[in-house]
Amino acid sequence: MPILRYVCWQDLERRSTELTIPLASQRAPMMDQSAFWLRPTSYWLPVHFPVSAWNTHAPFAAWLIDVLRPAAVVELGTHMGFSCFAFAEAAARLGHPTIISALDSWQGDEHAGFYGEEVLESVRAIAERDYPESVRLVRGWFSDSRPLFADASTDLLHIDGRHGYEDAREDYEEWRSVVRDGGVILFHDIEERDRGFGVWRLWEQLEREHSTFMFHHGHGLGVLAVGEARVDALRGLFSADEVTADRIRADFERLGAESEIRSRLAALPEELRHARLHTTQLEDKVAWLEHEAEDLRVAVRERDHRIKDLESSTSWRVTAPLRAAGRVLRRRE
Ligand SMILES: C[S@@+](CC[C@H](N)C(=O)[O-])C[C@H]1O[C@@H](n2cnc3c(N)ncnc32)[C@H](O)[C@@H]1O
Repeated sequence: MPILRYVCWQDLERRSTELTIPLASQRAPMMDQSAFWLRPTSYWLPVHFPVSAWNTHAPFAAWLIDVLRPAAVVELGTHMGFSCFAFAEAAARLGHPTIISALDSWQGDEHAGFYGEEVLESVRAIAERDYPESVRLVRGWFSDSRPLFADASTDLLHIDGRHGYEDAREDYEEWRSVVRDGGVILFHDIEERDRGFGVWRLWEQLEREHSTFMFHHGHGLGVLAVGEARVDALRGLFSADEVTADRIRADFERLGAESEIRSRLAALPEELRHARLHTTQLEDKVAWLEHEAEDLRVAVRERDHRIKDLESSTSWRVTAPLRAAGRVLRRRE
């Protein structure tokens, strides 16, 4: 049984906390030479779990960095940084030098939602602390940043910005030439068909013209070969028969499920903080309502006293026959 060097996911001080014991859920199986997609990196998980729809693809991201060994990666759409940090973490653990250019307006869009400056600040803090050599944040519109990148300068392009058909097509057409022969382009959300998502339509067209592989889980991830794949593992991926392709998909879906669980766990402290804040607000409201109720009870008691005082007063008793006569007259009407 190989011993997997597994990095404690919740600890940000990566290098000081490496464990050398195999964890049950992280134990690599006996390597099956034919299962070229199961390398130790396929069992790696990132250490950063910002909220993301990409989290089930982290094991594939680590495997891809391992087999492709990209000198340069370009990501269109980084948001809180999950995919970017998954690439960066894998490269760091492999000791593989790479430059990951992470592009975003850091304003959001209609699918990701619009957000404030705190998102870029949190991405910048992690990038500067943990990946100062590899991650380069490029803020701006994708098209404005395109002249910064020479043609054939990149090994891996990840397209995960806008998700309408025209938008995704524009990003692809504008950026595909940055990828050199033997490189790879990833498309996220190829399985999303509602709410104006149209990457699936672009993917259907590209599949007809290129060597590709697709994952259905995690909103769908398309993998497209630019020219001839450079390494055996990628040639194996792009030429997999249906039975093998299903095994690859099933294995990465299963491995990705662990990443999803870690994401959920990582989100819990923040959810707990929100829940506690909400509880405090509700408790304050309950206290205020109790105070209001007490004021009303006092007012009712004072009114009852005034009525009682009125009813026992001499003038009230003297005018009693008049009120009785009034009642009789009203009944006759
Ligand atoms: C789906 S999110 C990216 C998710 C990210 N890859 C992850 O792992 O969670 C899409 C991001 O693309 C950005 N975006 C969309 N269109 C853009 C454009 N034309 N130029 C720059 N950024 C854009 C949005 O601001 C948003 O943060």
